[in-house]
Amino acid sequence: MLKYVNNELFVEKTSVSKLSKKYGTPLYIYSQKKIISNFNAYENGFKNIDSIICYALKANSNHNILRLLASLGAGADIVSGGELQKALDAGINPQKIVYSGVGKTSAEIEFALKSDILMFNAESFEEAENIDKIAKKLKKKARISFRVNPDVDAHTHKHITTGKFGTKFGVMYEDAFELYTNASKMKNIEIVGIDSHIGSQILDFTPFKLAAEKISKLIDKLEEAGIKTKYIDIGGGLGIKYKKEDKPQTPAELKKAVMSVYSKYKDKVIIVEPGRSIVGDAGIITGQVIYRKTTGNKNFIITNIGMNDLIRPALYDAYHNVLPVKKTSKKQVVADIVGPICESDDFIAKDRKFPLLEQGEFIAVECAGAYGRAMASEYNSRKIAEEIIVED
Ligand code: LLP
Repeated sequence: MLKYVNNELFVEKTSVSKLSKKYGTPLYIYSQKKIISNFNAYENGFKNIDSIICYALKANSNHNILRLLASLGAGADIVSGGELQKALDAGINPQKIVYSGVGKTSAEIEFALKSDILMFNAESFEEAENIDKIAKKLKKKARISFRVNPDVDAHTHKHITTGKFGTKFGVMYEDAFELYTNASKMKNIEIVGIDSHIGSQILDFTPFKLAAEKISKLIDKLEEAGIKTKYIDIGGGLGIKYKKEDKPQTPAELKKAVMSVYSKYKDKVIIVEPGRSIVGDAGIITGQVIYRKTTGNKNFIITNIGMNDLIRPALYDAYHNVLPVKKTSKKQVVADIVGPICESDDFIAKDRKFPLLEQGEFIAVECAGAYGRAMASEYNSRKIAEEIIVED
């Protein structure tokens, strides 16, 4: 989606510097074509099986992105009442909405029940009890699955690994059978599925297969006990190419990994909850060089992209590639590319070889479409960056 034409960076057929001048920086720019092709990779990858692609709104809940995904038939994975509202506003079919998260409040549960969503992925027994109670009050039957923690290591960053013991997510694998049995006796609960989400930015699919093997054993045991699980939710987590050496696998390969275990079930529906792999590489954030300076032996390129705009480097030490918007033959230096926020962790890139751009020149940070604008704040009383979707 990004290319240089006559040394100028373009998103699709639109010049990045023109957009940056017109709308001001920092500016999030998304490629509509790339979002569509990322979504279609899931549709095609899972096309021969009964499946629902539930886009994880937390990655980017921009209204127009959601409308686009709704028009392509996407469902949604939500984690709050706010996300439910956004999914409904964008026209996402409630029968394709799954509700994850460890701390759903009573008000949020009520809202989801009234909206008739597909299912709750309950993350504790107390949550299931609360859903039952609220469903009773509303004279409804709530469809639930339990999010089961399969205790596999997704080999990703410690902040985004969720499928290991000792995290707050899901119910313990060893406890799951008993929890299902007890929940199946609740009058206003209908058990419809089983869910696991093992982490994010996963580049090797072995953990998905290991998780599927464990979950499958549990499904068999539950079915023997008469507890049906129509939906198998495999969570999200596919990685994207932040670095040159990253080799992300495709949705088709993900299907292959999980179906090597689940293909024996003919009557089940597979749910996938991708976030990052739908929008991550479809977005950039642009900014401008404000000042350059050298302190001690370190060069700094100070820009107007702060950690309030893109917190991933500061929070996870995440790598994002940075490009000059106009290709240049200017001298390359090794510098920290930083923001204007009063925190030493306010950086975009550390010790990066980069042309020593002039004040005012534009830069673009790649792979900022997921967990960029969605995690932005007004810290230091800065304005939240605008967003533009490019169509051609
Ligand atoms: N489903 C559940 C239950 C999740 O918790 C998540 C992400 C997803 C799906 C989507 O995962 P994805 O396909 O995007 O990997 N802020 C961090 C990522 C946190 C992910 C949280 N859960 C980052 O910027 O790397």
